[in-house]
Amino acid sequence: MIVACPDGPLLVRGEVDIFSTTGEEIQQNRKTIALCRCGVSTIKPFCDGSHKLVNFRTEPPEPEATT
Ligand code: FES
Repeated sequence: MIVACPDGPLLVRGEVDIFSTTGEEIQQNRKTIALCRCGVSTIKPFCDGSHKLVNFRTEPPEPEATT
């Protein structure tokens, strides 16, 4: 199961195999992992919480009301 967190990572639950862009398997032994989708994490492909520091948003901001 994959859950897209609002303004955050993709949570992946269940058994998955993860490979780098060069085809090497990335070892992980957790039942739930968080994959970065903001592009800022220092431990890609995993989320390190940096999305909060850069105010990552998955939805465009609401338009400002005109008066
Ligand atoms: S989504 Fe969390 S660091 Fe990128």
